[in-house]
Amino acid sequence: MTVTPADLDALFAARHSCRAFRPDPVPRAVIEQIVATARRAPSWCNAQPWQIVVTSGEETERFRAALWAQAQKGGHAPDIPFPSGYSGVYQQRRRTCGWQLYDAVGVEKGDRAGSARQMMENFRLFGAPHCAILSSPAELGPYGAMDCGGFVTAFALAAQAAGVATIPQAAVASFAPFLHDWFGIGDDRLILCAISFGYADTDHPANAFRTERAGLDEIVDWRG
Ligand SMILES: Cc1cc2nc3c(=O)[nH]c(=O)nc-3n(C[C@H](O)[C@H](O)[C@H](O)COP(=O)(O)O)c2cc1C
Repeated sequence: MTVTPADLDALFAARHSCRAFRPDPVPRAVIEQIVATARRAPSWCNAQPWQIVVTSGEETERFRAALWAQAQKGGHAPDIPFPSGYSGVYQQRRRTCGWQLYDAVGVEKGDRAGSARQMMENFRLFGAPHCAILSSPAELGPYGAMDCGGFVTAFALAAQAAGVATIPQAAVASFAPFLHDWFGIGDDRLILCAISFGYADTDHPANAFRTERAGLDEIVDWRG
């Protein structure tokens, strides 16, 4: 078996966060293959802290409706604190990808109602037919969350290889108490994010842009 670096780079380059899905379900065998591959992600002490609840069919529809209703009510209470701020280059990158999205869907700068409408799409799961809710044992703390970050990337890439589009969503995890309740996830686990997934609506403008990446000179501090 040979996967060339170019093959791998092409897989990474093809993946993007999908913000409009077709309704067709992903076959259970394909989802199982994605999870089977994603679980190969490394974790500290091989704890494999990730667990996911995966919704399909009517369960996705019930969850979508309840999440939407919760989002109307508000009550932001994530299990792990959201970033306290984005400054400097992080603020710039955050703004750039936000503007790229708003530009793609025709929301003009300053159109707060339009940007809020687009943001609320998070709570419709962007129309995805499936949602995975990812949690980690509370006792593993930030390192459990770190391991789960690797799982998110592995899941997204395994899905991409199977022609399945994904979007990780911290926005969904902002309603952690509701999610604990709805899915019966104990308080001994931290809900980290959702991953909505399915087949991309490739004609939708929300899927028409690609984010940028910093050059290696901004990432690596070479020594020696
Ligand atoms: C942990 C995590 C949480 C994210 N949460 C959201 C979210 O709530 N809503 C959203 O639209 N995108 C979310 N994203 C997607 C990022 O905005 C996206 O990965 C980033 O802009 C890079 O774009 P790309 O995934 O298309 O390469 C999240 C990504 C990650 C890794």
